[in-house]
Amino acid sequence: MCGIVGYTGFQDAYSVVINGLRRLEYRGYDSAGIVLDSNEDTLAVAKTKGKVDDLVAVSEHLKGRAHVGMGHTRWATHGVPSDRNSHPHLSNNGKIALVHNGIIENYDTIKTMLSGHGFTFQSETDTEVLVNLIQYFMDTQPALEFPTAVRYALNEVYGAYAITVMHEDFPGVLVVGRLGSPLAIGLGENEYFIASDASPFVEFTRDAIYLEEGHMATISLENGVDIRSITDNSKIEPAIQELKLNLEQIEKGGYEHFMLKEIFEQPKSIQDTMRGRLLVDEGIIKMAGIWDHLEKFSNAGRIIIIACGTSWHAGLIGEYLIEEFARIPVEVEYASEFRYRNPIITEKDVVIAISQSGETADTMAALKLAKEKGAFIYGICNVVDSSIARITDAGSYTHAGPEIGVASTKAFTAQLTILSLIAIKLGKHNGTLSNVKFVELITELDAIPKKIEEVLESTHDKVKEISKDFINAQNFLYLGRGYNYPSALEGALKLKEISYIHAEGYPAAEMKHGPIALIDENMPIVIIAPKRGHYDKIVSNVQEIKARKGKIIAVVNKGDVQVSAIADYVIEIPDTSECFSPIVAAIPLQLLSYYIAVYRGANVDQPRNLAKSVTVE
Ligand code: F6R
Repeated sequence: MCGIVGYTGFQDAYSVVINGLRRLEYRGYDSAGIVLDSNEDTLAVAKTKGKVDDLVAVSEHLKGRAHVGMGHTRWATHGVPSDRNSHPHLSNNGKIALVHNGIIENYDTIKTMLSGHGFTFQSETDTEVLVNLIQYFMDTQPALEFPTAVRYALNEVYGAYAITVMHEDFPGVLVVGRLGSPLAIGLGENEYFIASDASPFVEFTRDAIYLEEGHMATISLENGVDIRSITDNSKIEPAIQELKLNLEQIEKGGYEHFMLKEIFEQPKSIQDTMRGRLLVDEGIIKMAGIWDHLEKFSNAGRIIIIACGTSWHAGLIGEYLIEEFARIPVEVEYASEFRYRNPIITEKDVVIAISQSGETADTMAALKLAKEKGAFIYGICNVVDSSIARITDAGSYTHAGPEIGVASTKAFTAQLTILSLIAIKLGKHNGTLSNVKFVELITELDAIPKKIEEVLESTHDKVKEISKDFINAQNFLYLGRGYNYPSALEGALKLKEISYIHAEGYPAAEMKHGPIALIDENMPIVIIAPKRGHYDKIVSNVQEIKARKGKIIAVVNKGDVQVSAIADYVIEIPDTSECFSPIVAAIPLQLLSYYIAVYRGANVDQPRNLAKSVTVE
């Protein structure tokens, strides 16, 4: 939700900031802005509703004018997307500029106070209140240093923020702060970078500091990076980390969209998830996070999985896996509901948070609640060193590599892979899984990347063709049973978020309790029907749909006869164990959504109203 970039150094700040904003556009793309400190009298600002390309169209004259600057790409929270509401926001005296990712919850109270002191506001944003609060402290306490005024202001606000601030009278100084939203500082030779993630500066430096919760930093070429606690100003020693990210990972690599690239990366990303963990020849699963805490898991009264969106769908499949193999009761909760419903959490509970970004505000808050109540908290995150990864007691990274397309694809299959490893590992440890079954499962899991390669190869062109017939569809139903009921939910979510076609996922048997009323010759129904797992029951469901003239797109195993004979369109996937079939079935479902969206002319990497990292609740 919103991307921030800042720079001070010897390069052209405009180019660094604009290129950085392009890389962060996945975080929000309804408006963009830039401010440069060009050593002239005033800060040079340009901002506009729209994407970074729109910003370039109104700001190119600023190119080459400065070595210090910052920018913002927005996902609107307070105030509609408009030129006025775009960041950076300036203080009333025009001297201070601020970019912000997050929400200032008590902005109204502060706004009233500032209005009482004569401040006026141009926008409807919470951010403009914060920048004026900094001016207020500087006006009322003239001896105050600029970073101290920022600190005073931050101590007055509630909510979530990552901010970068510049002051006209303090040239070359950037002040940053963070609480609840991520911020990284890149350390180059005679240059510093600031960004919501490391992607804007990955080609310039390998050294970065990930600012911790409640910390701020004053950054200048003269004095380097000075990190302080926002609450008491105590000095903090920086923890410098080496970046694992490389440029190739964050570029499109010849694909038309990041989403398609990420779909095709899945044989490799799943392999990366299992690397060093699944040792088939030795017959072991080696996962430090679980290994070190096996007793916590085995003695857990229950496991609660919390997540949002696609990660929640992965959690549902995790429930099936863990209950089947490890026989530990599992509950799966939407993080946003869990955090507000006063749930019963005990010290015997293990709470697993699943999050690609590791920054989702609801998941983070739910996890904090579980921690407070004494539960053991475990993270399954993709982004290394993300906020969730850092607050958990232990965890497993999915190692799927950066996922930039807003619709989650490879992160989902990596989450399923990790959950499979955890369930099988726990089953072995608990003695609820026989040795024979253990070996059968790990051998099959090891074969999944090859099967994904096969399914990409064999279904891509066919799915692309099928997609053309559905570009004018108004609605879609997705049905599946058992392990593939969550696949149906995920297939429907993928379609609706990128193509804007209304889609619903249902357990196939639930169809006759309501959704069947929707079925007629205009209703496309995607049915996930691999041969292992309630196949006969699915055949009956398919018959029921056919009798009502629904258009059936069936995802079946190679060589399938019964469902294929009834379906209008057949997509064949390789056979695998029932528990791994959602990983394989996900591929054609992702491709179907992708191509329908592309043929409808939608921007698949940046669907309307969405953002990759949901750091607001
Ligand atoms: C859908 C999608 C979202 C995310 C959700 C949680 O394609 O990407 O539904 O899954 O916003 O995000 P994370 O996993 O980052 O917590």
